[in-house]
Amino acid sequence: MSTEHEIGDDYTKVASFTDIPRGSGIGVNVNGIEIAVFNADGELLAISNRCPHQNAPLYKAGDEKINAEHTWTDTRGGVNEEEATVSCPWHLWEMDLETGKHEVSGKCIGTFDVEISDGDVYVQV
Ligand code: FES
Repeated sequence: MSTEHEIGDDYTKVASFTDIPRGSGIGVNVNGIEIAVFNADGELLAISNRCPHQNAPLYKAGDEKINAEHTWTDTRGGVNEEEATVSCPWHLWEMDLETGKHEVSGKCIGTFDVEISDGDVYVQV
């Protein structure tokens, strides 16, 4: 969840707010931890960047032609802004961006607090 106030020492700047347009995400590495930050309806939400199914990089959800054979020429997966979920680009597991949970399997990945200050995006690790 993103809010505006003073940033603590345990937050790391990862991007500018304008780097993450609505309905998209970025992948960042903070102290060796892979994190995906998504913009769902103007709110920034951060979860582990690795899908709990087979470790796909979740920030690539919605990208075109993500495999080497170019089997997929259209987008695959993506952010559902209304539901605040992301569907994995590999096999479309849908992850809740607020809880990190995949409802069907019951598997869960980490979530991270996000803060915005002066147009910059910070993630707490
Ligand atoms: S790796 Fe994400 S759904 Fe299979």
